[in-house]
Amino acid sequence: MESTLDPSALDYHTARALLEWQVELGATEAILDAPFNRYEAPKEAPKAKKKTGQPAQPMPLQPVPQIDPVAEAQVAAKASKSLEELQAAMAAFEHCQLKRGARNLVFSDGNPAARVMIIGEAPGRDEDREGKPFVGRAGQLLDRMLAAIDMGRDVPLSKDAVYITNVLPWRPPQNRDPKPEEIAMLRPFLERHVEIVAPEVIVLMGNISCAAVLGRRGITRLRGNWQEAFNKPVMPMFHPAYLLRQPHAKREAWADLLSLKAKLEDMS
Ligand code: URA
Repeated sequence: MESTLDPSALDYHTARALLEWQVELGATEAILDAPFNRYEAPKEAPKAKKKTGQPAQPMPLQPVPQIDPVAEAQVAAKASKSLEELQAAMAAFEHCQLKRGARNLVFSDGNPAARVMIIGEAPGRDEDREGKPFVGRAGQLLDRMLAAIDMGRDVPLSKDAVYITNVLPWRPPQNRDPKPEEIAMLRPFLERHVEIVAPEVIVLMGNISCAAVLGRRGITRLRGNWQEAFNKPVMPMFHPAYLLRQPHAKREAWADLLSLKAKLEDMS
């Protein structure tokens, strides 16, 4: 894996994050772009010893500042008073390594005045490229599912519109599952996102969203049963990517969509 960065221009944290990122991507050796013959390298002159007559004093150890990413996220999220401010606060959040490998921050799509907020897992390749959630194959299926109950992200009437976001705004490498610590440090932003949008009902797409919001996995048992989170009714559903792999599960997804529609009618 070649690097075009000038290593001397990097601070410690950035250099370490980049190295960890390359290891995650599968790099096993640290090599330069061009071979370097150390036998021909100019020898460094030995450093002259100071003749002070005093024994060398050990360097005092600098305390390493301890950063709590969850606490930092809570402060940044709480201070955000609008969706624009929240997006800016997330863009400025430097403690999640996923940011280093992502092309874009994927914040949201749809109508912020919608009655329904859909929470997916994380951007995939297409979403990372476009900076919008659910634009790949799974997203197209999601749009068709919503259209089947006369709803959608581009619907002008807020009563039929949805607002879409994800637990994570950055694509995990090779679409791996998010780590619990990544979910934990980004959850304050999700919580604030829900507070600002203030939907009537939330739909959780798949296991990761259930883990992040309900603290539980097991979508096969959870789906179709109304839960409560953020003081709102919450419906866990199969993720559309799962439905692409397991089309037989569309029957249950259809039942869940009808239950969502019925809930909205009951609440109006
Ligand atoms: N899957 C998700 O959970 N979210 C997206 O934005 C895309 C695919």
